[in-house]
Amino acid sequence: MKQFLVLFASATGFVADYAQQLYEVIQSHTRQSNADVQLVPMDSIENMNQLFSEQSVDAHGKPYIYLSLVTSTTEGGKISEMGEDFYGIVEKHFSEGEMLSHLHFSVLGFGHSHYSDTYNQVGRTLAQWFRQMNAQEFVDCKMLDVANPSQMEDDFNQYARELINYISNT
Ligand SMILES: Cc1cc2nc3c(=O)[nH]c(=O)nc-3n(C[C@H](O)[C@H](O)[C@H](O)COP(=O)(O)O)c2cc1C
Repeated sequence: MKQFLVLFASATGFVADYAQQLYEVIQSHTRQSNADVQLVPMDSIENMNQLFSEQSVDAHGKPYIYLSLVTSTTEGGKISEMGEDFYGIVEKHFSEGEMLSHLHFSVLGFGHSHYSDTYNQVGRTLAQWFRQMNAQEFVDCKMLDVANPSQMEDDFNQYARELINYISNT
């Protein structure tokens, strides 16, 4: 069974609300199919290494974990506190040159373009690390700008539609 995990990291709850919306969208489209979806705060993943292990494939060797990472960038270009452990583990896998080609991932980043030097730094960095580890980007990563709320809503809705299309076609 395919498992979609919406993993989120949020400082104030703003991004958590969007993660919840995404979860509900995915849930309404997986109900009829052979798939499952969970909404998980990044600081409450039960077995983090299991996420990245090769065991995350089904009996036919097909990857069945789909990580949808929803995260803001906070002060200094860093991830919020609840995402620190997860971020550190991904960084470790990356710096050790691991390959995660069995894993499917997508990143939805939230940032503010006022912070031009560190705009969406967390989302962009996670996307880059997963790509370099050969993980499969099942839906194109998207970076949203909270400085422009109407554009942000449009971008969010488009991302949700792309996810639904993916789920409907697999
Ligand atoms: C103190 C502070 C620092 C921030 N620093 C950055 C930053 O460096 N880069 C960026 O893209 N966005 C930055 N942002 C914008 C946040 O990513 C944005 O407000 C986001 O919606 C926060 O969501 P959250 O509260 O759910 O984590 C910052 C926001 C605050 C309040």
